[in-house]
Amino acid sequence: MKAIILSGGKGTRLRPLTYSGAKQLVPVANKPILFYCIENIARVGIKDIGIIISPETGQEIKDTVGDGSRWGVSIQYIMQDVPGGLAHAIKTARAFLADLSFVMYLGDNLIGSGIDKFVNEFNKNKPEALILLKEVDNPSQFGVADISKEGKVLQLIEKPETPPSNLALVGIYIFSPRIHDAIDIIKPSKRGELEITDAIQELINMGCNVESFVLDMWWLDTGKKDDMLTANATVLDEWLKGNINGNVDNTSRLLGRVAIGKGSIIRDSTIRGPVVIGENTMIESSFIGPHTSIGDNVRIIKSSVEHSVIMNESELRNIERLEESLIGRRVKIVENRATYKALRLMLGDDSVVEV
Ligand code: TTP
Repeated sequence: MKAIILSGGKGTRLRPLTYSGAKQLVPVANKPILFYCIENIARVGIKDIGIIISPETGQEIKDTVGDGSRWGVSIQYIMQDVPGGLAHAIKTARAFLADLSFVMYLGDNLIGSGIDKFVNEFNKNKPEALILLKEVDNPSQFGVADISKEGKVLQLIEKPETPPSNLALVGIYIFSPRIHDAIDIIKPSKRGELEITDAIQELINMGCNVESFVLDMWWLDTGKKDDMLTANATVLDEWLKGNINGNVDNTSRLLGRVAIGKGSIIRDSTIRGPVVIGENTMIESSFIGPHTSIGDNVRIIKSSVEHSVIMNESELRNIERLEESLIGRRVKIVENRATYKALRLMLGDDSVVEV
């Protein structure tokens, strides 16, 4: 069995971060989302992974991920010239996939468990497709599956007004090579994409066995800012281990689980975990509250931050209270007392500032 991870796409919902970088590399608890996907695939013993990339962000993904040797797998990159849909991505990977069954994993999905039970289920029953589902409160915002009592998929419906169930499609699937026949038949949807839901529906119409597996742990789609912050908080809550490699002076207090990377300095500050801080970062006379991830080479001086993600090389000075914020790389947020009450901003396209 092989695997493909979809890391192309446009990432419009995470602009402006996605103007300068790939959505799949946005860090959750200081680790790119994509790394969690690779780890989950490597853990079930799959050795050949194809990563679908786009011309815009493909190089950054290659540079960050490498050849897979650090996970003991081999990674090949497959260029998808246009974001033509999830089924189009499979079509693009056709030569890599050959005639093998494969896991398809969306590179912006995070789940609270491994995929071993899911893969075992596929190997046991050998359906043409096995799709991962999760119970949600608001099914009309997702692709939803109508399933039989035995878990066979009868129909898939994209964002239904009257959902047949509360089971949403998580972005992880396993397919036999029959999926290629279905993709050859389907036509682009109204939004011009080759949809994976249409291809799976085609498999069902062809009389193939399409089964489902319901995830019993959390699932987070990291497409938007608040989803990202929820993902960050959840991962810090569940997986962070306290670990101090930096330097903490004796006027500082660390409470709860806090991880601090090499070369970082904490002076005269309080940090209330779960919090992760990267390498060579300086925190001075500040309060860092729960569910915050701070990257490498960041400076936080006389400020208070909570429930936020602050990426590498950014700087905060004299900021009384920053919360629920997603701050990209090399951002400066500085209070300027000389121009009190006036805001001086230089923001990229699609930035959002709430004052
Ligand atoms: P989406 O989140 O559906 O699409 P997107 O990345 O274009 O984002 P947005 O809706 O904010 O514009 O994509 C799910 C994953 O699949 C994501 O990791 C990108 C990837 N993808 C591809 O690799 N190729 C494609 O053609 C599409 C549509 C998505």
